[in-house]
Amino acid sequence: MSIKDLKSKDNMKICIFYFSGTGNTAWAVNKLAEKLNLLNYEVKVISCESQPNISEEIDICDILGIAFPIHSSYAPSPFQDFIEKLPKSIDKPLIALTTAGYTAGDVLWYTLKPLKNKGYIPMVFSNIIIGNNMHLPKLSPLPVTKSHKLHKKLEKAERKIDKMAYYITKDILHIEGINLFGRILGILQRSIAKNFKSFAFKGFYSDETCIKCGWCIKNCPTQNIQEDSNGVKFLDKCIICMRCYSFCPKHSIQMTEKTKNIKKYKRYTGPNC
Ligand SMILES: Cc1cc2nc3c(=O)[nH]c(=O)nc-3n(C[C@H](O)[C@H](O)[C@H](O)COP(=O)(O)O)c2cc1C
Repeated sequence: MSIKDLKSKDNMKICIFYFSGTGNTAWAVNKLAEKLNLLNYEVKVISCESQPNISEEIDICDILGIAFPIHSSYAPSPFQDFIEKLPKSIDKPLIALTTAGYTAGDVLWYTLKPLKNKGYIPMVFSNIIIGNNMHLPKLSPLPVTKSHKLHKKLEKAERKIDKMAYYITKDILHIEGINLFGRILGILQRSIAKNFKSFAFKGFYSDETCIKCGWCIKNCPTQNIQEDSNGVKFLDKCIICMRCYSFCPKHSIQMTEKTKNIKKYKRYTGPNC
């Protein structure tokens, strides 16, 4: 079945659900929506954190969209749960994007396989390289993308998003990450990631500079942070999305003593800064 068979494009409705830790995916999804709006598509962009009425939104859209950042060849775990909850649908076209720091592997194909089994039809899957948002001792040795480099990367990402909009409007089947290289990369990353994470990541904590402003508590996607006498404390649901660590106004969130060196362990500022 083709997108064209469904409806005239002028009143085609697309609903895109997304998760974004530090803003890259939100930026990419909103760019895609902007471009599709110009082409007379009606696009609704919904954060999975806003607790949407999923079934209602899916019922009224003609195309379902999914977007998330790559976390070691997986989708962030709350978003994986979100995808699992999506209802069955007969022949609804599916578009999807991921954002990554360097390379995406087969994550879209791997993550969205259950949706295919639920009746959705993969149409356009694109990996958008934006910038790396994670530099932590042991866990992630490469520096975060600096703001002056991010500008160029965003330009390149925007060109890729243009292409994605083109494929959608021209009804061109375009699926990335299913070649042999993508599959091997994905399988390797996934087999290493889980064990390595529990070995290298012992959690975040707030240091003595915390002013208890509550920003991290309010913005943590898993409600993993609570106030305590010294600042804030972290429970056991951290998904290392990097939001609190990157945007704490006082850079008070640390992983080890080493991350207090903010020249070496720079915080990611994201596409909106
Ligand atoms: C826990 C974690 C794991 C990551 N793993 C990868 C990876 O395997 N490959 C990659 O290219 N980027 C990786 N990144 C970088 C992010 O995918 C990238 O910065 C993404 O655009 C962030 O999107 P967001 O700002 O919407 O959260 C990882 C980031 C985090 C926090």
